[in-house]
Amino acid sequence: SLHDALPIFHNCMKTYLVTGAAGFIGANYIKYILAKHDDIKVVILDALTYAGNLGTIAKDIDDERCFFVKGDICDRILADELFAKYKFDYVVNFAAESHVDRSIENPQLFLMTNILGTQNLLDAARRAWVTGKDESGYPTWRNGVRYHQVSTDEVYGSLGAEGFFTEKTPLCPHSPYSASKTSADMVVMAYHDTYKMPVTITRCSNNYGPYHFPEKLIPLVILNALDGKPLPVYGKGDQIRDWLYVEDHARALYTVVTTGVMGETYNIGGHNEKQNLEVVHTICDLLDEMVPKAGSYRDQITYVADRPGHDRRYAIDASKMSAELDWQPQETFESGIRKTVLWYLENQQWVGNVKSGAYQSWIEQNYGERA
Ligand code: NAD
Ligand code: DAU
Repeated sequence: SLHDALPIFHNCMKTYLVTGAAGFIGANYIKYILAKHDDIKVVILDALTYAGNLGTIAKDIDDERCFFVKGDICDRILADELFAKYKFDYVVNFAAESHVDRSIENPQLFLMTNILGTQNLLDAARRAWVTGKDESGYPTWRNGVRYHQVSTDEVYGSLGAEGFFTEKTPLCPHSPYSASKTSADMVVMAYHDTYKMPVTITRCSNNYGPYHFPEKLIPLVILNALDGKPLPVYGKGDQIRDWLYVEDHARALYTVVTTGVMGETYNIGGHNEKQNLEVVHTICDLLDEMVPKAGSYRDQITYVADRPGHDRRYAIDASKMSAELDWQPQETFESGIRKTVLWYLENQQWVGNVKSGAYQSWIEQNYGERA
């Protein structure tokens, strides 16, 4: 087995279960931790839904420290087998249905994966990690273990023109996606409060960067622009998102998973608030510079019907991360978006691979109805 073949590492070696790492952020996270740290083993559990792409992590799973398992986070038997076999120290749960527009079409799938999948992982961890009971009857836990839930700023709902989401902002989700992520967070905290389970949660703002699936605004606009297709802007394009380069998120997650205080939630964000239209204009202007054509890519902008229940503004206060864990974003939006556009230009093969038949039919369904 891969385990037998592993080289001997020094004593502090940690074994990670990372779910959903064939997707955008999980893949960037495992690349980050494998590059930065020798003393880890990583087992990836991913169902390879439409959003998961093995090509994204092909090189990583060639690494003898990293092992891929195709499977569903809702599968109890598989989860128990993996915990028994690999004796995980850390679980980092990225696996989720992640696209708000899809959640409006098929809410149940989101509730199943995002809530029940999380609960299944928590239970598997509980069965594997509990060592006994303390004098008050609470479970005792194996030393050094942690369950980390990758959550989102969308659990806080929507802001007006002023203010920021802090970790104390009441949870107020609006979409089936954000409602499912909120429920999952509450289940994670229930396991902490009820079983004293060692858990942490992070809530991050909108990510962008390499390997972002082209159903999401930034990669969709880059690729549609290059293909000469319409650039769909929902409503007036005046909604605001707070953008963070994905590697900054990966580093923040590494910091929380290794040093975050158990039972705590940490907001992650880069103070890069932009209106959607401004983001689309920036991408068009970069493409005008990098891949000039007659006219501007801005000419392809098309206003389409708004997203139902569309949250107007997200903005994260990440001062707890900087004050308590000394994390700061390193990338500005200007440098990050330039890198991202270049990455898509240079990785057309990856782009071709993710544009499967299933993805094409989603695009037709979603934008066919909106136009
Ligand atoms: P993604 O859609 O790109 O990837 C999700 C991955 O999970 C895919 O590889 C998919 O195959 C896998 N998956 C889905 N259902 C599964 C199941 N039942 N069992 C096992 N694997 C399954 O998502 P992403 O953008 O990388 O987001 C990752 C996590 O980060 C999610 O939990 C999301 O809520 C959260 N998040 C995303 C953002 C963002 O801007 N994209 C921001 C904050 C938080
Ligand atoms: O805030 C974190 C969240 O960011 C994550 O939890 C989600 O998983 C992730 O998908 C993302 O959600 P958004 O809904 O903000 O991302 P999306 O890229 O779908 O849309 C960004 C904004 O752009 C949003 O206001 C809707 C708008 N939009 C989106 C698409 C796909 C458009 O105007 N046109 C589009 O075609």
